[in-house]
Amino acid sequence: MMAKRRPLIAGNWKMFKTGPEAAELAKGLKAAVSDMGGVDVLVAPAFTAITVVADILKGSAIDVGGQDLFWETEGAYTGQVSAPMLKAAGCSHVIVGHSERRQYFGETNETVNRKIKAALKGDLVPVLCVGESESEREAQETFSVVKEHLDKGLEGIDGDGLAKLIIAYEPVWAIGTGKTATTEQAQEVHGFIRDWMEKVGGNSIANTLRILYGGSVKPGNIAGLMAMEDIDGALVGGASLDADSFAGIVGGSLGAAG
Ligand code: 13P
Repeated sequence: MMAKRRPLIAGNWKMFKTGPEAAELAKGLKAAVSDMGGVDVLVAPAFTAITVVADILKGSAIDVGGQDLFWETEGAYTGQVSAPMLKAAGCSHVIVGHSERRQYFGETNETVNRKIKAALKGDLVPVLCVGESESEREAQETFSVVKEHLDKGLEGIDGDGLAKLIIAYEPVWAIGTGKTATTEQAQEVHGFIRDWMEKVGGNSIANTLRILYGGSVKPGNIAGLMAMEDIDGALVGGASLDADSFAGIVGGSLGAAG
């Protein structure tokens, strides 16, 4: 059997943690996570905490990402943050198209596409989020919604860009609800995403593409998810806000991958 891809566990801190609180968590994570080999680890604090967290995690194995970006590099765009700003603050990655941004802040597949392009141009690894809502799943639209997120979100991205990015499948109904998708439900969509990538980007990009699962991931369910063929890691919300539970997820991902 082909070796699985190197796991990636990412923590999306959403709108939690002030600068001082984020610094506390970063120190805890550095102690708890930094000596675990074999897995990549990423945290995405609020914009106001990126610099302090990046300074604390400098030289550790934990990378830092933004939760969003704007597609212009600079200009009169009050409230926005650009790729060069994230990069200079210490980010290597950026989450794009999270369902909460699509739901509450008017993010569309078109704006996602512009942001993905801006991230790649700014030398940030985009973590593109895709996934269906509960009503879309009930209406059997899961695959068509995910396909549209991919087709439109990644329109015009060349092979180099496709080879760089990470995709996170986050069924909206499983986010913050305690309702994790079953491992089979998750695998089915991850397999679909990898097939999509094979058609668009070719076999080699599809084989190395890391696809994360997100939605109520906890230390107790990570191993089962990671055991699935096309699940390469997790994008964790709530359980990433505590150093012990996040370290438990990082450790659990390794156990299954080894
Ligand atoms: P929860 O882990 O809190 O369900 O959040 C998942 C998520 O949205 C990560 O981006």
